[in-house]
Amino acid sequence: MQYKSLNLKKLQIICYPDPLLKKVAQPVEEITEEISDLAESMVDIMVKSSGIGLAATQLGIPLRIITMSVTGKRDDAEIIINPTLSNLSGSSEMEEGCLSVPNVRANVRRANACTVDALDVDGNPFCMDAVELAATILQHETDHLNGILFIDHLNTVSRLSCRRALKQLEKEYENR
Ligand code: NI
Repeated sequence: MQYKSLNLKKLQIICYPDPLLKKVAQPVEEITEEISDLAESMVDIMVKSSGIGLAATQLGIPLRIITMSVTGKRDDAEIIINPTLSNLSGSSEMEEGCLSVPNVRANVRRANACTVDALDVDGNPFCMDAVELAATILQHETDHLNGILFIDHLNTVSRLSCRRALKQLEKEYENR
């Protein structure tokens, strides 16, 4: 895929069970203008969709770029390129949803705190400690880069309660 030829106006969030959501994303090798434009577009799409996190994978682009905004506001948005998580500690359960899995919400147990090492949109390395909601978003979005959805973490009871909504999404995907 040629990212130079990406039409940023045509970017769309893809939904479960699109197989592109299962693809493992590749690291960004160089932060070109195309990459920074893409990252800025991701922030636009995230905010417009009332999301608090977005991974490039969700636009069908297999590159390790995520955006997040704990408040959902543009001013608080962060662009995080090639993230690696470490120091995962504690455990808490939070209700999650996902722009790629509309109409499904479920509790997911994750680490309560983590550290992220990444590059910003100018290519500068940074390190950030995150707790609670921010830590949850980082884990959820990094999962996307590895082809994992939050519904892959559900226990049997939660999975059962989401089954009908997931079936509906599968039907919509078939008939799209
Ligand atoms: Ni998601």
